[in-house]
Amino acid sequence: MDGQTSLVSETRKPQRRVKQIWAIGGGKGGVGKSLLSSSLAISLSRTGHKVLAVDLDLGGANLHTTLGVELPRQTLNDFFSERVSQISACISPTSIPNLEFISGAQDSVSIANVPETQKTRFMNAIRDVDADYVVFDLGAGTSAHTLDFFLAADINIVTLLPEPTSIENGYRFLKSAYFRRLWLSPKLHDARKWIEIAMDAKNNEGIRSPSDLFRVATRESPELAAALKSEIERFRPKLILNQVRTHSDIEIGFSVKTVCKKYFGIELDYLGYLDYDSAVWQAIRRKRPVMLEFPNSKLVTSIDRLVDYLLKKHADQRSSIL
Ligand SMILES: Nc1ncnc2c1ncn2[C@@H]1O[C@H](COP(=O)(O)OP(=O)(O)OP(=O)(O)O)[C@@H](O)[C@H]1O
Ligand SMILES: [Mg+2]
Repeated sequence: MDGQTSLVSETRKPQRRVKQIWAIGGGKGGVGKSLLSSSLAISLSRTGHKVLAVDLDLGGANLHTTLGVELPRQTLNDFFSERVSQISACISPTSIPNLEFISGAQDSVSIANVPETQKTRFMNAIRDVDADYVVFDLGAGTSAHTLDFFLAADINIVTLLPEPTSIENGYRFLKSAYFRRLWLSPKLHDARKWIEIAMDAKNNEGIRSPSDLFRVATRESPELAAALKSEIERFRPKLILNQVRTHSDIEIGFSVKTVCKKYFGIELDYLGYLDYDSAVWQAIRRKRPVMLEFPNSKLVTSIDRLVDYLLKKHADQRSSIL
């Protein structure tokens, strides 16, 4: 596994400007990560907080479209290639008060080509930007970079559609993030051998899930098992189901929560769902945020409720591995 220590080896400054980073991931493409990221960012900015939305879907960046702004001149590509030294040079304004954004590169840069050192440089810089909240829009897939950006956030949100393919990818994403998180934890150095075995889905040791891993760790040493337990408890990802059409779709969120607990030992918070809403594609066609174009839609109310809930109930959550 690459980049094992750089994210955790940096000393964290005691006073960082940013209160919380929220990351939106989900494994599968086209499940609404960008719609959700932009909508949450807009809703957050309306609560009076200063917000920075960051497009980390390098190579497929389109957060600017869901935010209703043109692709800016400076993008993350300029920061990663050190054409600009300060992250502030990549921050662009939007027409929405309290909301700024950083665009992901749309040109040749692939996220796989971003060196580890640049990722660490970015994560250090982002905690000190002039914003209260930072929202990461992640790309599809389970690359180490995407997982690391997800895990570097304080609030880790997974979105998926009530469809078998999306649910499968959602599980895969959660499981990968989970193992990566355990693997990166300095406290679990001695368990790495087992974590690596667990990450190989076809391993011969019968370690298929985090609960199997916990069983092995308990056998090895009680201290290791205790460290593992505490890391497992700190990982509290959140689920938002998107494009819900029927009442039984809503129930899928609860089933996913149960499966995560039973088979992975992951405590997943099911935050809620967004209806399938034709306002979304109408707004996208007009290159306008749905939050502004259809302010009275049910979707906007649902997003505002989610933000309100996160601000009230999870204001202190710090799941970040940094
Ligand atoms: N709640 C919704 N109702 C109706 N359409 C939706 C909804 N959410 C997303 N969509 C549609 O799904 C498409 C994909 O959404 P979005 O671009 O946000 O997904 P994504 O997960 O960011 O995709 P990618 O992985 O390609 O970045 C959008 O074009 C939009 O039209
Ligand atoms: Mg996207």
